[in-house]
Amino acid sequence: FNIKEFQNDLLTWYYANKRDLPWRRTNDPYKVWVSEIMLQQTKVDTVIPYFYNFIEQFPTVYDLANAEEQEVLKAWEGLGYYSRARNLQHAVREVVERYDGKVPSKPKELEGLKGIGSYTKGAILSIAFNQPEPAVDGNVMRVFSRVLNIDDDIAQAKTKKLFETLTREVISHEDPSSFNQAIMDLGATICTPKSPTCLLCPVQEHCRAFDLGVEQQLPIKSKA
Ligand code: ADE
Repeated sequence: FNIKEFQNDLLTWYYANKRDLPWRRTNDPYKVWVSEIMLQQTKVDTVIPYFYNFIEQFPTVYDLANAEEQEVLKAWEGLGYYSRARNLQHAVREVVERYDGKVPSKPKELEGLKGIGSYTKGAILSIAFNQPEPAVDGNVMRVFSRVLNIDDDIAQAKTKKLFETLTREVISHEDPSSFNQAIMDLGATICTPKSPTCLLCPVQEHCRAFDLGVEQQLPIKSKA
């Protein structure tokens, strides 16, 4: 497995084919954060109009921190999983109090904020701050389980840790933000759960599962 060639093939494809999504037109860590929270349990197409609305209504950390909880929940209405919105507002208030309104760029500081787990932390650090940190969710585990032919159970916490370790080894240090988002786009559009479109995959020649013809059997997941 040639890491440099894998990165090049992936990033070249991404630069030519990346989806034009509203949260990709900014590096504002607050906006990246809002988008990643919305995207956790909700599909991209559903999130787009909510994201525009939310950012229009709460353009900065201060606007969200000072809002009434009811206004925030109203803006979230229809997205579901309302604890995401409550935690986000709680965390943004912490950012105002502890960090002078600036979203922290240190892993330890982000980790201490309500609603920020390892995925969201890595997404903010890589996408907004361009740090070479893993942002591993189910889609990323699917892509790497196939590329590297890993049959560990992705329902297990230690498997996520394994993928975080592996991502640290293969992530581009030139453009970590694009690398992580390229893996997300690959998982959403080509390396899909059922019938992945390997014929069009920019990293097909690096994919161990494709080589062995086992891409449809991966990833392994024990519980729904
Ligand atoms: N899913 C989660 N985060 C995403 C992002 N930044 N772009 C596209 N899809 C995503």
